[in-house]
Amino acid sequence: MKRARITGTGSYVPEKILTNADLEKIVDTSDEWISTRTGIRERRIAAVSENTSDLAANAAARALEMAGVSADEIDLIIVGTITGDYPWPATACLVQEKLGAKKAFAYDISAACSGFVYALDAATRQIEAGAVQKAVVIGAEIFSRILDWDDRNTCVLFGDGAGAVVVEASNGEAGVLASCLHSDGNYSELLYQPGFGTRFPATDENLSQKLQYIKMQGNEVFKVAVRMLSEVAQEALEAADLSIDDLHLLIPHQANRRILDATAKRLGLPEERVYINVDRFGNTSAATIPIALDEVVRGDKVSSGDILVFDAFGGGFTWGATVVRW
Ligand code: UT7
Repeated sequence: MKRARITGTGSYVPEKILTNADLEKIVDTSDEWISTRTGIRERRIAAVSENTSDLAANAAARALEMAGVSADEIDLIIVGTITGDYPWPATACLVQEKLGAKKAFAYDISAACSGFVYALDAATRQIEAGAVQKAVVIGAEIFSRILDWDDRNTCVLFGDGAGAVVVEASNGEAGVLASCLHSDGNYSELLYQPGFGTRFPATDENLSQKLQYIKMQGNEVFKVAVRMLSEVAQEALEAADLSIDDLHLLIPHQANRRILDATAKRLGLPEERVYINVDRFGNTSAATIPIALDEVVRGDKVSSGDILVFDAFGGGFTWGATVVRW
């Protein structure tokens, strides 16, 4: 069986930085509250002229350059996003056009903050089955456009950005060793965007109730996130016949520093084996893991043979983990 190997990584974040001090001028909050409750210090905000497909295509172009793969070699493009350019067509189709990846088929995956791990799983299965040779997997979001900037419970937490990987069929030892995914729709209304799907269409009444913006019951989400992130990381390591001692670096979804610390504690991992950048980008949903991975790779923090685990949790609820031998 072929293995799905990551041969290139790339990321792109918008230039504009929004600091906690900037937020103090917008809502009733403080740098002290945001830093101590979340670990976030600043986040990036897309320019008016930028759309999710632009962020995604920029990240993908960087990943393709690292991999030495040209756009016309790509068979498959998957974008994990819940803030696509349009409800449909898929943002992946717009990325395909921007990259000039003429022979690729392209689709989006809607799994909120788990979108990248879900998308990587889908590409891996296609490669392992022999149906696809080269895929581009992207997590990209512009959350700043679905935030209620009057709601301090949510607007301080999120940011915009994109990360991408090139995944290729390989005969070697390196690549995805295991991938475990889960969902539980019982929790769907603890973290969601009520409008404007078919349930709450874009009527004046629904607009006046601000249903187009994200709604979240933060502390309920927090508790489940910590449990699921630690359980699924263990489950995926076991599926790969590995243990936590084999893990070089955990690359978790970056939602809140306290969630990351609690997850690390449950897994018995010391701080230096958990990658954290939530302080600089906030929660970029499906983009957090591929942005973090790109920083790890370009910062020479991973060597050939190292075991990495990507660990995600998000709205749905959805959660999942991927074990990769680098
Ligand atoms: O990607 C997955 C998606 N989301 C998450 O993973 C988020 C998970 N949850 C969290 O990260 C945390 O629950 C939050 C950071 C959202 C909130 O932290 P918390 O420690 O759970 O605070 P809380 O919701 O219990 O709120 C405590 C207080 C409340 O005031 P009262 O009612 O006690 O007077 C809030 O109104 O903090 C208040 N508060 C704020 N104060 C200043 C909430 N947001 C803010 C704010 N600035 N931005």
